[in-house]
Amino acid sequence: MHMSLPEKFPLPVTARRSPIRRLRNIVTAIAGTLFILVFLLAVRIYRTGTSDVIVADLPAFPTTPVIPKPPPPSPSQKNPETTNEDEPLTPPAIFNPPKPNTERPMLRDDGVILTGVKNSTIWHSVGRHPARKECWSYISRFEPYVSPPQEVLDLISNNNKPTNNRALILRLSTGQPWKKEFTHHARALVLEAGHLANYDVHFLLHGNKPPAELRKWVQRHVPKEFRKITQVFSTEDIKSWLNGTAAFKNIMEHNHLVIQKFMTEHKQYDFVYSVESDLRQIGRWDNLLSDIDEEYKSHRERQEPDQDMPEIPDLVTFEGLRRPVHDWLWITYECVEGFGGHKNLRTSLGPMWGWSRRLIEKMNEYNAKGVNCFYELFSPTVAYNNNLTTFFYQHPLYCPRKSASGRSSLTLEDLGKNDPRTMQYEKPARGCTYFFVNPHSQPFWEEWYRAAKNPDACWPPALIHPIKGDFFN
Ligand SMILES: *[C@@H]1O[C@H](CO)[C@@H](O)[C@H](O)[C@H]1NC(C)=O
Ligand SMILES: *[C@@H]1O[C@H](CO)[C@@H](O)[C@H](O)[C@H]1NC(C)=O
Ligand SMILES: *[C@@H]1O[C@H](CO)[C@@H](O)[C@H](O)[C@H]1NC(C)=O
Repeated sequence: MHMSLPEKFPLPVTARRSPIRRLRNIVTAIAGTLFILVFLLAVRIYRTGTSDVIVADLPAFPTTPVIPKPPPPSPSQKNPETTNEDEPLTPPAIFNPPKPNTERPMLRDDGVILTGVKNSTIWHSVGRHPARKECWSYISRFEPYVSPPQEVLDLISNNNKPTNNRALILRLSTGQPWKKEFTHHARALVLEAGHLANYDVHFLLHGNKPPAELRKWVQRHVPKEFRKITQVFSTEDIKSWLNGTAAFKNIMEHNHLVIQKFMTEHKQYDFVYSVESDLRQIGRWDNLLSDIDEEYKSHRERQEPDQDMPEIPDLVTFEGLRRPVHDWLWITYECVEGFGGHKNLRTSLGPMWGWSRRLIEKMNEYNAKGVNCFYELFSPTVAYNNNLTTFFYQHPLYCPRKSASGRSSLTLEDLGKNDPRTMQYEKPARGCTYFFVNPHSQPFWEEWYRAAKNPDACWPPALIHPIKGDFFN
């Protein structure tokens, strides 16, 4: 299987030029001009035919029947090689967003992804296959963020606008070393989710130091362009905001309180995404966010007569909902009691979640009544018990084996009344490159990173968690 990868993977056009050059050397002396003309004609025919051959060889792009198709990529996403000459001249933009290396099917018919790297792990797409046929090299993904001009850095500092009604929060702590790779990721997040998709972006930085020292830490560690959008908080700030109404343990276990406090203090937002520092994306944030919106819209259009889905979902999650196992370490007595029994608890993984104001206000109400739960339980459970809409956005998962870590879905009776139902009829994959531990996510990202200088290497879109370690952080 390892050997067959490069054969089926079409070599990029640039890689075909070296035999041409060699041939040319042999030919010139003997055959002269006539032979060269014939040769060039042959090359032209060969290259024109190539793209058809590639398309015919690869399987039709797989789609999952019960899930609506996401929007086709925008025209600006097309391969620059084929469109540059035909495009009308547009005034130069301050910021040129990154473009994928190519757009082509990324999967072999057995689900193996075609990375173009011979000695990498054989990665299988084990869940929903990538909706966008994009192929990204590490360099094409992050190049615009390596040393952007001052005007672009200013776009980051001045991203937030009174007209934006949605926000995205990047969660940070004083444990963040701010290596250059992390800075590139953070710039991508602000420029793509913020500048391109019109979200306000806030970095919420946690540290247990007095406020003046925390601000000093920011001056010393956080790159200048982000300081205007960075806010600091301590454990004590969160604890005192809760007013002793409900149990509070620590930030990690009650991470939702940071978002609740933020939303209570920022009334201009209807909706907020929270993104943990060890989440990464191959592909652009603006595309991911608009694909989520489009897909939710199509679920809402097809809701059942007994459903009442709001215009924006209340909780957007990137792992299917589950009922927690009975002896799960994180389940507390007050949580079970607060929701009327274990059968009413729901859980999901929360490295990235989208929260509506409606959900946040419900969570505040539970806290005020003395109810609080572990982070991964609280918001899915509040949403479930109040008929709010939880939208599970299925994204591609990759594994070194053919199957996912697990597959599960709730029965119709266990699903929230107003949750999109169609994707629950199959058992969506979970784990692998979006999991609570990193045995698959880390090598997936690291092999991509290490292949940055290989001109044949590119990876399909992926939302990945966790990426750990000093080097990437
Ligand atoms: C693959 O080979 C290249 C070149 O020898 C090397 O730099 C790279 O680290 C290798 N990658 C893996 C995943 O072994
Ligand atoms: C705590 O009290 C303050 C001041 O009365 C109030 O603004 C805030 O909403 C309360 N917090 C919670 C979580 O109820
Ligand atoms: C949720 O919907 C069910 C079914 O329509 C209804 O019985 C229940 O009272 C609703 N719960 C809330 C909190 O509105």
